[in-house]
Amino acid sequence: DKGTYPYYMLKEVDEQPAVIRRIEAKYLDHAGNIHFDQALLDQINQASKLYIVGAGTSYHAGLVGKKLFEKFTKTPTEVVLASEFAYDDPIIEDQAFFIFLSQSGETADSRQVLVRVNDEWQKPSLTITNVANSTLAREADFSATLEAGPEIAVASTKAYTAQIAVEALLAVAMGREKTNATAVNFDITGQLSKVANAIQTVVDEKGKIEELALATLRKTRNAFYIGRGLDYNVALESSLKLKEISYIQAEGFASGELKHGTIALIEDGTPVIGIITQSKTADHTRSNLQEVLSRGANVITMVSEDLANSTDDILLPVVDEMLMPLVSVIAAQLLAYYASLQRGYNVDQPRNLAKSVTVE
Ligand code: M6R
Repeated sequence: DKGTYPYYMLKEVDEQPAVIRRIEAKYLDHAGNIHFDQALLDQINQASKLYIVGAGTSYHAGLVGKKLFEKFTKTPTEVVLASEFAYDDPIIEDQAFFIFLSQSGETADSRQVLVRVNDEWQKPSLTITNVANSTLAREADFSATLEAGPEIAVASTKAYTAQIAVEALLAVAMGREKTNATAVNFDITGQLSKVANAIQTVVDEKGKIEELALATLRKTRNAFYIGRGLDYNVALESSLKLKEISYIQAEGFASGELKHGTIALIEDGTPVIGIITQSKTADHTRSNLQEVLSRGANVITMVSEDLANSTDDILLPVVDEMLMPLVSVIAAQLLAYYASLQRGYNVDQPRNLAKSVTVE
């Protein structure tokens, strides 16, 4: 039931602080211990390589996950598109472990990979899903739930943030067992609480984001999201959100790649949305934004408060940089929502799309 909300998508965006708190309640205790199946932790910590498998938004959550697993566990991690990997000829390491990300747990492309993992490669696996008794949950060795509650809108929002939060918890839990200093010193309880509050702050800025959408995205045919590192990962997810519900041709680019070709696409009035939450690369992305600005781009910036200046458009409350995707993506979800609404589309039921893609 969407209650007083015009669309499920807006309700699901608004639910995200509560989802983060539910995840905390499920996976953390008061002493700050993280709870996953011990057999899972024992098994996954033997891995010399992690594979993360997903499609669409789940693949994008995997891109962020790679950085979390590598930071907190030092285990090399590869993220693969299910529809590609299902028919690739990969060299699978002996000590490989597979993590499937799927909101529905029913995506045919991801299942096709799991069939190979089980039958051909015979490697251990975990499915992280919103649906506890789904096909992918049943057919993997282990499963963990997202606690996001039913996601009805075709455009995935709270499942993405839940996936990243659960990946972060798992990565820190694994890292603690390996006595990895970065993981041991990371205050995951405090950080997730900060994240829930930060998401709430962005959600409360809806009016501002609605105005930015009206000024920038109402009439455009195309739009670009740019960023580096984790911000690039969020740029990919942000552009998917925009294209699937507003039908704007939107692309996410690594800011540094612009000058290698893409900048040719920038014309007078082209919307370019810059995401800046990583201190190491903030100045670089700023200068890339300057380059598009001088070619007439209509620039919107989403910036962590500690990296912001007085000309930035959307200010994001600060949490640990590794978790900033959980905050920046909220602004992008809302921009996509309002762009779709203002252009007169059915936000929850975009053309040509199904919630769960059960054909390959
Ligand atoms: O249920 P899954 O997470 O496996 O679904 C994967 C994609 O089909 C899904 O994320 C899709 O990209 C969304 N519509 C994006 O908003």
